[in-house]
Amino acid sequence: MDNQNDNLIEAEELVELVELEEENNLTGGNYEFKESSGSGLLAEADLPFRHLKVMENLKSSEIPAIILDKRLNIIWENNSYKTLFLNNKRNLPVNMVQDFFPFLTTERIGIIYKSIRNKVTGYSFKIKVESKHRDRLDIIANLIINPFTERRITTEKDSIPEFFIGIFDDISEGNKALLEKTFLSLLEASKLKDNDTGNHIKRVGAYSKVIAIHLFNNPSYPGVNTEFIENIFFLAPMHDVGKIGTPDDILTKPGALNDLEWKIMKEHTINGAYILRAYPDPMATQIAIFHHEKWNGTGYPYGINNTDIPLPARIISIADVYDALRMKRSYKSPFSHEKAIDIITKDSGSHFDPDLVNIFIENNSKFETIYEDLKDS
Ligand SMILES: [Fe+2]
Ligand SMILES: [Fe+2]
Repeated sequence: MDNQNDNLIEAEELVELVELEEENNLTGGNYEFKESSGSGLLAEADLPFRHLKVMENLKSSEIPAIILDKRLNIIWENNSYKTLFLNNKRNLPVNMVQDFFPFLTTERIGIIYKSIRNKVTGYSFKIKVESKHRDRLDIIANLIINPFTERRITTEKDSIPEFFIGIFDDISEGNKALLEKTFLSLLEASKLKDNDTGNHIKRVGAYSKVIAIHLFNNPSYPGVNTEFIENIFFLAPMHDVGKIGTPDDILTKPGALNDLEWKIMKEHTINGAYILRAYPDPMATQIAIFHHEKWNGTGYPYGINNTDIPLPARIISIADVYDALRMKRSYKSPFSHEKAIDIITKDSGSHFDPDLVNIFIENNSKFETIYEDLKDS
């Protein structure tokens, strides 16, 4: 969180600089609206009726809204904003940088700061902002900042508005809904090519989520947040999407593959990454490329090992293999849950990440339930 404080401190220094400039250019005037003494909060009692009316409407509005002072401190927030940003238990004022860390860099704050003090821009500004928090999906939204109270009129020059209103527009949590639709249709197409069933890929998503939820509560995996869990649930089923380019006779060949066929088969990993590269999270390509890598470096396509293999791919390889073992294939009969645990345990540290195998064992009953609930009919 140190960076967050750095951003805040730098932003404050910049604010002071601009204010110093302002003081040099402007003579002071009477404030038309008072701040409540000391707290920096907007005193509703001091506001004219028309402002109170606006705040009253915003209180019950579904549109997230905030009121900012001219230093970009949030001095008031409506319930929609609180709910969206999980800000239920905190005291205002807080600087906006905190809610939009690390997106609101000193540079971006500087641009906003200057724009809302600029007559040419009408003391307003619009910016696409992003907000990340470990307990919820990423938020992307347009933030529109407009003056809330009038400008103070000074004897010589116009001053700037004392308070601003910030409204959030076009909010998309994760902003991926549309893209997900496109990728799902690709997935449908790839399923037609493979002898894997639709339920296999759903189950792989569900098992992967079980492991990810377990990691969420483990401080050794700080990268596993709510966004990670949602992403792996959605993306794990895509692991073999590259098979869309693999010839049918190779995919469905009953016997062993010859060298050339095997080489072509392995290409589904890299082809999958090409297909998924438009997805706005690197997890998508990591899953496609690395889901056949092994912990000891004997996997493909690159033979990388250990934690060089991205975490999502290490998770999915356990999920994928567990399901493949349970399923009936043309070349094998289905294995029992216990037999699948045995095989995966034996391959801990060779094929699979041993820490993740322990988590798999700890959660094995959930795997069994998922297999039974989403069984192929
Ligand atoms: Fe694969
Ligand atoms: Fe699979």
